[in-house]
Amino acid sequence: MDKTIIIYFSLTGNTERLAYLAGDFLKGEGRTADYFKLPADRTASFLKNCRDAFTKKITNIKELPDISGYDLVVLGSPIWAWNVAPAVRAFLEQVSLADKKVFIFSTHGGGPGKAMAGFAKKVTDKGGKVIGTYDVADKRISKDFPTLQALLKKLP
Ligand SMILES: Cc1cc2nc3c(=O)[nH]c(=O)nc-3n(C[C@H](O)[C@H](O)[C@H](O)COP(=O)(O)O)c2cc1C
Repeated sequence: MDKTIIIYFSLTGNTERLAYLAGDFLKGEGRTADYFKLPADRTASFLKNCRDAFTKKITNIKELPDISGYDLVVLGSPIWAWNVAPAVRAFLEQVSLADKKVFIFSTHGGGPGKAMAGFAKKVTDKGGKVIGTYDVADKRISKDFPTLQALLKKLP
């Protein structure tokens, strides 16, 4: 059975809630799930966050997860300015995903644009194999959870 780590960024709690729902579900399916929350830049304002996301800025992250012991990485981000959040971009910049299976997910306000395609491409560029993608509007996290469950159930 694959060893799974759920890595996510969350500023206001939505993506974190979904990360834990997903992890609890995976555990209920007999899998393991460890968690790692990517740190936020506490000094950033809404506008700075938007600008950094939009300009694809690589921010500094103080601590990175060690993913060497994991086969499956479940990676989650809020969508900011139609992009993954800068902390997730920075993680992707600094990590190798060679030989990793990666399931990507996001929460957003209802307008993700083409963010998921960019997210998937970044994972592939870093050597990861995207084995599933899921995105949901923040107001629909609970209601749409069966959709995510069905995707997670099918994971190899
Ligand atoms: C800086 C910023 C930019 C955002 N940009 C978008 C966007 O482009 N499209 C969208 O649908 N939602 C956008 N949102 C809404 C968030 O993606 C959404 O509320 C998400 O669930 C927040 O996740 P979190 O609670 O885990 O931080 C933005 C929120 C913030 C704070």
